[in-house]
Parts: sequence; structure tokens; C-alpha cells
Amino acid sequence: MPLAATRFTYVAMTAPLIDPFQRAITYLRVSVTDRCDFRCVYCMSESMTFLPKKELLTLEELDRMCSTFVRMGVEKLRITGGEPLVRRDIMTFFNGMTRHLDSGALKELTLTTNGSQLERFADQLYAAGVRRVNVSLDTLDDQKFADITRWGRLPQVLRGIDAAQRAGLRIKINAVALKGFNEEELPRITEWCAERGMDLTWIEVMPMGDIGNENRLGQFWSLKDVRAEYENHYRVTDLSERTGGPARYVRLEETGQKIGFITPLSHNFCESCNRVRLTCTGELYMCLGQEDMADLRKPLRDHPGSEEPLEQAIRAAIGLKPKGHDFDYSRQQVDGRMSRHMSHTGG
Ligand code: GTP
Ligand code: 5AD
Ligand code: SF4
Repeated sequence: MPLAATRFTYVAMTAPLIDPFQRAITYLRVSVTDRCDFRCVYCMSESMTFLPKKELLTLEELDRMCSTFVRMGVEKLRITGGEPLVRRDIMTFFNGMTRHLDSGALKELTLTTNGSQLERFADQLYAAGVRRVNVSLDTLDDQKFADITRWGRLPQVLRGIDAAQRAGLRIKINAVALKGFNEEELPRITEWCAERGMDLTWIEVMPMGDIGNENRLGQFWSLKDVRAEYENHYRVTDLSERTGGPARYVRLEETGQKIGFITPLSHNFCESCNRVRLTCTGELYMCLGQEDMADLRKPLRDHPGSEEPLEQAIRAAIGLKPKGHDFDYSRQQVDGRMSRHMSHTGG
């Protein structure tokens, strides 16, 4: 039987994925490449070395892997990188996932991107069934953007955002809060998002990977202080709503805008974690901030005709999901540091 046919005939839903802390795992983040066309200072060193291409899962293998997770109860797929849109022929993969949206098994197909390639891909992404995109953007100043991304250019990203909105994609801006960098831009970024009808989420910088000579403790701007900064400009109301992600939300009464805070350092949100992360080489990381991982590439490659060994490996891996991460900047030192880069696990 051709491979495609076996995939479609195996439709029986297996038991949902539940981890040892009774958290249902319904969200898979997939890094499709460790490569990126930017070199953000908090993410990579300028002379980053990337994986040899042969280490990567092929697009067909990524499809098999994701389809297995969908069959096992994953309802949300977020494609990340590196920069996912620099992976060659990536639309083939997105177009393949459309069948899971069509069947209703997958509720959301989305991506996190630096925006550099959105001008080219926005319409195709919409056609594949993507409706929301998270764009990472830390500053609206041309020079500061070039400084922080080293290789990025702001106008290109802004054109990408325009194209995405024209295509009908809803946009969330993710800004990493960086002391002495985007502190004074907070009102401007906030107003810009409000004018364009985009959501905004601030993220605390996490100690991930070797980034050369940059000082993370110096970069860390606690979101407690970011919130206080908002209170200097707006009336801020805490919202109790949760979207299943790590963000907590407030509303700015003057604009009616909802602002998200992702606070891995100042407030741990692991108790409600619903996600696992697949790297571009087929490793499954059960937590962004822990080393525990399982190799899924081997069961996938060793058994081209059967998904059962892969399913067993996934179930065993979920059984090892840790309670949470140990990031910590207290006592003026960085603890819980991770050796791997964010671009490896996909954020
Ligand atoms: P939506 O809720 O679907 O909008 O997305 P999301 O917040 O899950 O995804 P997004 O890519 O916007 O996440 C933003 C960033 O938050 C990630 O790149 C990480 O830096 C951080 N983040 C997301 N999930 C986790 C998590 O489970 N643990 C930690 N420590 N950080 C996370
Ligand atoms: N800490 C917090 N966020 C980070 N990102 C990359 N590296 C880090 C880090 N060390 C963010 C990017 C993007 C997402 C994929 O992860 O800005 O929003
Ligand atoms: Fe690329 Fe994102 Fe890392 Fe910046 S943060 S270098 S855009 S992967």
C-alpha cells in the first residue's frame, strides 16, 4: 500500500496524552529549522553554528511526526524555528497539515516568526488554513532593530506585517522586555499595536544558550516592573482569562487593549502547561527549561511502515514530563540556565 494510504487508513483515536501531573498535552510546538536570517543578541551569538542539513527531519518525516501527535490528541500545532519560513519548501509541510484542519482533528495551525518572510508567504499561509501569526518584534526604531537582530531590517518586517494583515491573518506581537533597550518604547509599541488591532505580549528574557559576550542578568527587565511602567501611563485591570498559554493578561482601560505577560522568571506558570516541543532533529523536549528529552527520530526512521513504535515512544516521553523549569535570576546570579539555544527548541 502506498505510504499516503496507510496514513489515512490509520484513523483510530488513541488514548489522550496525559502527563504525570494530570496535565493533558494538546499543544505541540515544532521547530522546523534551527536556522535564522537574524542573529538576535539574546538568542544567538553572531557566529552561531547550525546543524548539518542531514540531521534534520525531512518534510515527509515532519508530516508523519505531527500527524501521529494529532492522532494522539494534539489540537494545536505551532510551527517555529529558528525562523520557520526560511526552511526550503516549508509550504509543502503547511499544506500537508491542512488536511488535519479539514478533518476537525486539528483546531489550530499557527506559527511564530520574525516576520522577515511574511511578505512572500502571507497569502499562502492563509490559504493553508493559518489564521493567527505571532511576530517577534522588540523595537520600532530602525537602528535599534538592526542592533538587536544584528542582521534584520525593520522595514522588511513591517512590510511582512502589512501583507499578513491584508491576507486576513490576525497578529500577535511578542516583545522581549529588555532593560535599557525597549523600556522607554513601551507606550509607542503599545499604541502602534492598538492602532493596527494587534495583540501584544511581553516576554521575560530567559537564560537559554550561549550568546557570546551579552549579559543576560543586565538585560533582564522583570514584567512586574513592566506592569508598573504601564501603570504610569494607563489604568490597568488584571484579567482572569486564560488562553491555555503561559500568558497572563491585563486590560488598559484607556484603549481597551489586552496586554499579555509571559513571566517564566517572576511568576512560574508551569502548573497549567499543556505543551511539548519537537526539535528539527526529532527530539521531543518535555519542557523549555529542562534537559529531559526523547529521541523520536529513531522509532520514526526504524519503522517506516508502522506508527506504533513512535506512539509508544511519545507516550513514554510524556510520562517523563517534569513539573516545571528552574530558571532563576534571584541572588544576582543566573540559575537554571539552559545550554541549548531557543532556536533549537523553538521558544
Ligand atoms: P499563543 O498563546 O497561541 O498566542 O502562543 P504562545 O504564547 O504559546 O506562543 P508564542 O510563540 O507566542 O510564545 C511566546 C514565547 O513565550 C515563546 O517563544 C517562549 O519564549 C515563551 N514561552 C511559550 N511557552 C513557554 C513555556 O511553556 N515555558 C516557558 N518558559 N516559556 C514559554
Ligand atoms: N528569552 C526570552 N525570549 C526569547 N526569544 C528568543 N530567545 C529568548 C530568550 N532567551 C523569543 C523571541 C521570539 C520567541 C520565539 O522567543 O523573541 O519571540
Ligand atoms: Fe532568529 Fe528568533 Fe532567534 Fe531572533 S530570536 S535570532 S529571529 S530565532
